Amino acid sequence: MGDKKVIFSGAQPSGELTLGNYIGAFKNWVELQDEFDCYYCIVDLHAITVPQEPALLRKRSLTQLAQYIAMGLDPEKNTIFIQSHVSAHTELAWVLNCLTYMGELNRMTQFKEKSKKSEANLNAGLFTYPVLMAADILLYQTDLVPVGEDQKQHLELARDIAKRFNSRYSETFKVPEAYIPKVGARIMSLQEPEKKMSKSDENENAYILLLDKPEDIRRKIKRAVTDSVGVVRYSDEQMGIKNLITIYSKLSGESVDDIVNRYEGQGYGKFKEDTAEVIIEALRPIREKVDYLLSNRDYLEKVYMDGANKAERAAAKTLRKVYKKVGFIPRKYE
Ligand code: TYM
Repeated sequence: MGDKKVIFSGAQPSGELTLGNYIGAFKNWVELQDEFDCYYCIVDLHAITVPQEPALLRKRSLTQLAQYIAMGLDPEKNTIFIQSHVSAHTELAWVLNCLTYMGELNRMTQFKEKSKKSEANLNAGLFTYPVLMAADILLYQTDLVPVGEDQKQHLELARDIAKRFNSRYSETFKVPEAYIPKVGARIMSLQEPEKKMSKSDENENAYILLLDKPEDIRRKIKRAVTDSVGVVRYSDEQMGIKNLITIYSKLSGESVDDIVNRYEGQGYGKFKEDTAEVIIEALRPIREKVDYLLSNRDYLEKVYMDGANKAERAAAKTLRKVYKKVGFIPRKYE
């Protein structure tokens, strides 16, 4: 703490976490935790922009917390918390909403895609979602935001909003940078490799969940869509195979070239079998630890309560400044 630079990132408890989340974002969270002052959030406020079953949302939020810890995030080193526990997020979001243009939000690719899918439930929250995300980030004077490729546009909006506030009211927010991995920032669907892997996919063979059992992982990789070229090559013309090589490389730490060389002249069968085993071995310790953590509810409660207290203190500082600058009368003198 103190002089360390600040990281903020989060994931929605709107479904189970996938291998895409893990490779695109969480692996970096774990790797960066020693070097930075990190805030890792379970963004339940974001999750209700699509309808959620309340009991399931509670269960997923707790399971997600267990997964954060099981992946290797140390609750002593990091501030791990639940977004709805820190009311400054929604308070700042309101102020930033008044500074964000409809046109900017209309351009957000994720909004355009989601609104196509859920025309019957086109609520205002889905539209202003990126503003809440900007509030998440800006509250903590964040330097770096480790995310996958699909969040890049939201990050750019957060930067624009920060700059706009700073220029209108004077320097208040740090302007954050995205931290996106060079390889693995966009893990693709196993069934339609031109689409990203997503927990909301209707076809469960399209994604691998962090808590999938070994037999499910073997089945899903075996059924993963490839091509008729028949050569293990890292090429945009073979998106399915390219995606599997990326997964293999990120989880085993071996270079893409080494992997391609190993399977030269061997077709896809053995390569797919080995990829499944690499995934199983990478996820096994996480799954086992999650089971253990979920049976220690008191511990999980302590982690999120401590996290909320720490986050609240940091967030309140920024919110106080913001309220003062926009011209609100302080409730009491500090
Ligand atoms: P979410 O919950 O959709 O995803 C969490 C993280 O996983 C990354 N990700 C992927 N990376 C690679 N390949 C994929 N197929 C893949 N799918 C998901 C996402 O890029 C993300 O980093 N709006 C955010 C949550 C959020 C947030 C924030 C993130 C709310 N506030 C503040 C950073 C900072 C979201 O929906 O992520």
